[in-house]
Amino acid sequence: MMNDVKMTMDELIKLVDKKLDEFMTVQQPEDLFKSMRYTVLLPGKRLRPVMCLETCRMLGGEIEKAIPAACAIEMLHAQTLIHDDLPCMDNDDYRRGQKSNHKVFGEAVAVLAGDALLTFAPQIFLQNSVYLSAECKLKVLEEYHKFAGAYGVIAGQVIDIESENGKFTQEKQDTLKYIHLHKTADLFKLSIRTGAIIAKADNEKLSLLTDFAEKLGLAFQIADDILDEISTFEALGKTPGKDKTAGKLTYVSLFGLEEAKSKLICLFEECYDIINSNGFKSEIFTDIIEGIKKRVKI
Ligand code: IPE
Ligand code: IPE
Ligand code: MG
Ligand code: MG
Ligand code: MG
Repeated sequence: MMNDVKMTMDELIKLVDKKLDEFMTVQQPEDLFKSMRYTVLLPGKRLRPVMCLETCRMLGGEIEKAIPAACAIEMLHAQTLIHDDLPCMDNDDYRRGQKSNHKVFGEAVAVLAGDALLTFAPQIFLQNSVYLSAECKLKVLEEYHKFAGAYGVIAGQVIDIESENGKFTQEKQDTLKYIHLHKTADLFKLSIRTGAIIAKADNEKLSLLTDFAEKLGLAFQIADDILDEISTFEALGKTPGKDKTAGKLTYVSLFGLEEAKSKLICLFEECYDIINSNGFKSEIFTDIIEGIKKRVKI
């Protein structure tokens, strides 16, 4: 067991990659499993599973017990990416530096691979978490369904699509926050809360960490919006400049680049406040925040 062993970001990513490779074996129908495996295993940053494992460790839990849940969350994330790139959504031909799922496997299989991942993920979690109590597994599944579904990411994605090409109104600020809260911060909450639940965190810690996850998730999406405007294909592994072309409602389109950066700096300060004033000690979360800052040059 790896209890209490502090791992670096690179070590955590390697561990997640190894387990994902094991979980995503190609079965029948071969095209379906190949398509699922393709996007899950493409080189993503693995932020969500890393946050799940690190939260568990930070609260005194054994990270081995959180590995199937962490991997399931990465599978769910891959599902959101596959569907997000479809021509009927953001229509992006590239993801993680390679052709998007539908460009390789066709739209029908890409849609179905996304659907399949949504249920494959909790199944893998259940099958591989025999050492967690039934109560703990039920709690994790409740979180998964809440944040993955119509109360979570999907709600955010629908409003994101419906808000394309709109005019500026005051309500737009609220709409933008709603979009970011759900399409992005919800998976951050799922990742961090799941790690905390597996580590048997009390309600006070869970609530503080939920607040932290929300702010970090909002910050992450603002950074993504900024990068869409200022970064390159080589750095992003996806097509830059697409938000403007699609008339997306983003922090950059609504407030401009400079104000988006100021908002981002504020959110990171609030994130650090929560960690530092509550005794959460984590070099990994510092690495994550400082890594985003570096990418957006703030
Ligand atoms: C992309 O997430 C989707 C957003 C919420 C902006 P990531 O930037 O974490 O994507 P990967 O996992 O590294 O590919
Ligand atoms: C992503 O928002 C949210 C989800 C994939 C759920 P974006 O549409 O901005 O993400 P990218 O820029 O395509 O990664
Ligand atoms: Mg999108
Ligand atoms: Mg997109
Ligand atoms: Mg984006």
